[in-house]
Amino acid sequence: MTYTYEYFQKSADFLKTKVDYTPEVAIVLGSCLGPFAQAIENPVEIDYADIPNFLVSTVESHAGKLIFGEIAGKKVVCMSGRFHSYEGYAFEQLVIPVRVFKLLGVKTVILTNAAGAVNTGYRPGDVMIISDHLKLTGDSPLRGPNVDEFGPRFFDISRMYTPELRQLALRCAEDSPLRVHEGVYMFFTGPQFETPAEIRAARLLGADAVGMSTVTEALTAAHCGMPLLALSVMTNMAAGVLNRPLTDGEVGETAQMVAGAFSDYMKKIVAAI
Ligand code: HPA
Repeated sequence: MTYTYEYFQKSADFLKTKVDYTPEVAIVLGSCLGPFAQAIENPVEIDYADIPNFLVSTVESHAGKLIFGEIAGKKVVCMSGRFHSYEGYAFEQLVIPVRVFKLLGVKTVILTNAAGAVNTGYRPGDVMIISDHLKLTGDSPLRGPNVDEFGPRFFDISRMYTPELRQLALRCAEDSPLRVHEGVYMFFTGPQFETPAEIRAARLLGADAVGMSTVTEALTAAHCGMPLLALSVMTNMAAGVLNRPLTDGEVGETAQMVAGAFSDYMKKIVAAI
């Protein structure tokens, strides 16, 4: 399938009939981080399934709806639930949400995810502001014919995690009960968690956390020149760090435990942007 500019316009045109304002910030909520969505004021909710040319969430812990509304008086659009390569989506399909945000007139993108901590100085419940990433597996979401209206074929990504937004997020962390770090996120396709050997390799390569999302959306935002902030919640120590198997349950439990503090932190960031 070739995705043309018109393909993305069809989703954006539909969404523009649902709200009469331009959201300033788009927020993608990761696994189990959905509770932040409840903080959105004057919400207008749209099921992904109702949006033409969009995708649908197949993961249970992902709600599968787009929510327009306000956070701290700022107009936002929030994805409660995202799309991953492990669901069977092609990398090329994973550009859809962020390109639709761009066409809606969104200025800034905030991506969040649940991640495994590779850095042994991190603890479950900590937050990591992504300063850079490693993606040594899987295709690029920007593979295939370039859609010039969004950005150039070849582009620099050495500052894709916008330094000013990272600074802002660090400042907002000052009076948060959360421990907030800056670090490198390494992408794995999943859905299986990593092997202990992969985690040791990731650490040697400079990764502080691992996860199965975010990088595709981040690259899409960078391609179309959108300022970007990405935050990982450490839901568990990565495979092999502790001498016991990982479970999906512990990912959900940690995410739930920090949901309140993380939601407050996010609100502060959105207000400060
Ligand atoms: N690995 C990959 N993805 C994850 C993890 C992990 O340990 N925890 C939450 N998402």
